[in-house]
Amino acid sequence: MAGTKTLTIIKPGAVSHEYIGPILNKINEAGFHISAMRLFMLNRQQAGNFYQVHAEKPFYNSLIEFMTSGPVVVAILEKENAVIEYRRRIGHTDPSKAEPGTIRKMFAESMERNAVHGSDSDENAEIECDFFFSKSERFSIFDKHHF
Ligand code: CMP
Repeated sequence: MAGTKTLTIIKPGAVSHEYIGPILNKINEAGFHISAMRLFMLNRQQAGNFYQVHAEKPFYNSLIEFMTSGPVVVAILEKENAVIEYRRRIGHTDPSKAEPGTIRKMFAESMERNAVHGSDSDENAEIECDFFFSKSERFSIFDKHHF
């Protein structure tokens, strides 16, 4: 069965352009429930660990520089089939290739400054959600306790 959660990061470029509200609005319009959220600065260690799979890529140092250049919003989004649904809504990593109406088409500046991150598999979604949020910081729509 497909997973019900994904992790998003609204990146420093989008935060500095005051796109937090418009992006969250798109997320809500798409039917996602926000079950955890935080605004803060990533330090180099956190950014490096988060993007460790890209450590050998030529863009890695620049990506870490960018991701630690200002505050980010990190959130867990819930919906049936969350990873695939959210990736469809954010569009291609390269905003010039993203479909009209997608978050990256609307708010991204470039491949690196691409407005948002979205988990790429259910397995990575689990790892990424655990990376940023403890269980007590989550308020799941699937937990009758909360809603
Ligand atoms: P994200 O979904 O956060 O996952 C890895 C990030 O690396 C990606 O979004 C982009 O911001 C960045 N990235 C991927 N490919 C390139 C590239 N070719 N040049 C620059 N940045 C890239």
